[in-house]
Amino acid sequence: MNVTAARTGGPSPLEVELRDLHRRFGDTAAVRDLTLTIGPGEFFTFLGPSGCGKTTTLRMIAGLLLPDAGEILFDGRPVTTTPPWRRDIGMVFQNYALWPHMTVFENVGFGLVERRVPRDELRRRVDDALRLVGLEGLEHRLPSQLSGGQQQRVALARAIVVRPRLLLLDEPLSNLDARLRVQMRAELVTLQRHLGITTIYVTHDQEEALMLSTRIAVLHQGRLVQLGTPRDLYEHPADVFVADFLGGANFLPGTVRGRTGDALVVALDAGNGVATAELHASASRHTEFEAGDRVTVCVRPEALELVPDRGPAGPNLLRGRLRLVNYLGAVMSSEVELPEGRVLRVQVVRPPTDMPLVEGAPVALRVAPEAVLLLRPPASP
Ligand SMILES: Nc1ncnc2c1ncn2[C@@H]1O[C@H](COP(=O)(O)OP(=O)(O)O)[C@@H](O)[C@H]1O
Ligand SMILES: [Mg+2]
Repeated sequence: MNVTAARTGGPSPLEVELRDLHRRFGDTAAVRDLTLTIGPGEFFTFLGPSGCGKTTTLRMIAGLLLPDAGEILFDGRPVTTTPPWRRDIGMVFQNYALWPHMTVFENVGFGLVERRVPRDELRRRVDDALRLVGLEGLEHRLPSQLSGGQQQRVALARAIVVRPRLLLLDEPLSNLDARLRVQMRAELVTLQRHLGITTIYVTHDQEEALMLSTRIAVLHQGRLVQLGTPRDLYEHPADVFVADFLGGANFLPGTVRGRTGDALVVALDAGNGVATAELHASASRHTEFEAGDRVTVCVRPEALELVPDRGPAGPNLLRGRLRLVNYLGAVMSSEVELPEGRVLRVQVVRPPTDMPLVEGAPVALRVAPEAVLLLRPPASP
């Protein structure tokens, strides 16, 4: 996309507030208790697995669906029952929803025709929008004569040409192949930063969410489970669901034994006849735990360091055997099986050269106390 084709003096971005939103479909509570504020100019993402309520939330913000209870405010003004066409929004859906019998130009210009924008200005604005999304020269094609990526760009151009104060995007990249998806999300973030428009994005793809968003709201079964910057969520996940959903992690059950200095000592559950391994976590980061508490220890694959299996045993050192070695050049990903049978995923940037990295080799794993994350164990079902 060509973001040097600068837009001249667009409207100011919108603030969106959701207050205690609820929406049911029959017995399903699709959205419950949703309260949050999206700041002007944010790239805000609703992230969660299929069925968690993302589309329902977006449709309520768009005005396509009424909440059962709660309020939606734009810049402090209630719009809960305002029809979509009075909300000043642009929308892109997963399936693009282009008009098949209209050319690219007509598809993009349609919203301006509806708004009775004069002919000359319409042509100029459609040209600008097409240039922004990198589609100049294709204005006379029909959607059927475009690739998936190009159709997606038409949908995006159609959404931004009306200069909305709010852009709503529902899994807009999910119909594209992996390569194009990666390219388009880079372009999307550049375009959004350039336009400065408040953008609400819906996806189940954690990588997309981490890369694009100023903040992410993680939804689970219709509820907000955590709200924060990509870094907050990755480094301080609120629970096992968020830790797992954002990039996969290793989980080990254990019990807090007590405290020594700034270390909270956790004994990992051990199998029969296996010595208990101890991990130290930062006590100041985990003030909510005390001796006797059951915990789920979360360690990211990249936080584990592969070291030779020699030297004395100690805390934060787990012994095991290499089970799988995937050498990928820049990184090596492997699995290490602990004596009690648990398998940890390990990602190493610079594989150590002083030890054999073959399957079955005895190895040790080291983890810094700051990278040992303690979470409440998930409630048993
Ligand atoms: N029109 C509908 N009628 C009945 N159930 C619906 C309808 N729309 C959504 N749901 C249900 O509400 C829940 C949330 O759906 P949705 O918001 O589409 O989730 P997501 O977009 O996160 O995949 C799901 O259980 C879904 O089956
Ligand atoms: Mg959806």
